[in-house]
Amino acid sequence: ERGTAGRATAVAHPNIALIKYWGKRDEHLVLPRVDSLSMTLNVFPTTTSVRLAPRSGSDMVTLNGRPAAGEALRRIVDFLDLVRERAGLAHRAVVDSENTVPTGAGLASSASGFAALAVAAAAAYGLDLDATALSGLARRGSGSASRSVFGGFAVWHAGPDAGSAEEADRSSYAEPVPVGDLDPALVVAVVDAGPKPVSSRAAMRRTVDTSPLYEPWAVSSQADLIEMRAALLAGDIEAVGEIAERNALGMHATMLAARPAVRYLSPATLTVLDSVLRLRQDGIPAYATMDAGPNVKVLCRRVDADRVAEAVCVAVPGGAVHIAEPGPGARLLHGDG
Ligand code: PMV
Repeated sequence: ERGTAGRATAVAHPNIALIKYWGKRDEHLVLPRVDSLSMTLNVFPTTTSVRLAPRSGSDMVTLNGRPAAGEALRRIVDFLDLVRERAGLAHRAVVDSENTVPTGAGLASSASGFAALAVAAAAAYGLDLDATALSGLARRGSGSASRSVFGGFAVWHAGPDAGSAEEADRSSYAEPVPVGDLDPALVVAVVDAGPKPVSSRAAMRRTVDTSPLYEPWAVSSQADLIEMRAALLAGDIEAVGEIAERNALGMHATMLAARPAVRYLSPATLTVLDSVLRLRQDGIPAYATMDAGPNVKVLCRRVDADRVAEAVCVAVPGGAVHIAEPGPGARLLHGDG
C-alpha cells in the first residue's frame, strides 16, 4: 500500500449554474452535451469522511446519521468502485456524510456531496490528484459536482466529441473563471424543501430524447456562455443576470416541451419570479435562476441582498430565504488519520 492515508475528511459547498448543465452525451461517463458555468456558494456545506475498512465485505454509508440504501447507496458504491479501480486497492470503506442542503430540493445537494466524496475518497485511497483530476473524478458521481471542486466561479468543459472514451473522460472537467469587479449575492428562496418528482438524471434523458426545443437551447447556450464570460470579466451584474435568467428559462422550456413534459416550476416559483420583475422595475438589478426543483435563486448585488431577500420573503410567506455569496472550493480537513 503506497501511502494511503487510510482515512480523510473533506468539505464542499453547492454551486448554482448561471449557464446550465442539462443533457448528457454519455450516461456512464457523465459527459455533458454543453459547457456550463456556476458560482460556488458559501452556505450549505457537506462534510464527508472516508475510512478504509480492509476487513469489511461491503461499504458502509451513513447519510445525515442514517444508513444509506437503494439508489443513493448504489451511486456511492459505484463511485467508490471507480476510486478503488484507479487506486488498485480493493478495500471497502466506511463513509459518513453530513449534508446541510435541503436534500432533493433542486439545490444541488449532489454537487457538494460528490465533490466532498471525491476529495475525501481520493485522499483515503492514496490517489494523488490535482484539482483538474479531482474535478473530473467528482463529475463521475454527479455532473454538477465537477464545478464544486472550485470556489467562486467555475466553467465545466463538455470536452471534445471525438476520440476514445479515455480521452473524453480526461478532457471533461471544471476550472476557475476570471471575474472582474463583481460583488454578487444569490438569494435562495426555498419555496418547497420536499424531494423532486423526477430525478434530474431521468429528466435530462427524457428532454434530450424527446424535446424539440433541446437542440436550439443547446446551441444558444454555447453563445450564452461566451457572453457570460465577457460579462463576468467586465463585472457587469445586469448582463450576468440577464444571460443567466434567459439561459435558465430556456432550459425549463426544453423540459416543458419534453414528452411527457417535465415541470419543476410551481405556482410559488412564478410568484417569486413576479417579485423579481418588480424589483427590476424599482431599479434593483435582480435576476432569477431555477434548477431541477421549484426553488428560485436570485442573483443581485451584495449591497441589495437584504432588500431582495425581503421582497422574496413577502412573495412566499411560508418559504425560507438564505443569502449566499461566492464560497470556497472543496478541501481536505486536516487533523484526520
Ligand atoms: O449534477 P446533476 O445531475 O444533479 O444535474 C444538475 C443539473 C442542474 O442543477 C439543473 C443544472 C446545473 O448545471 O447545475
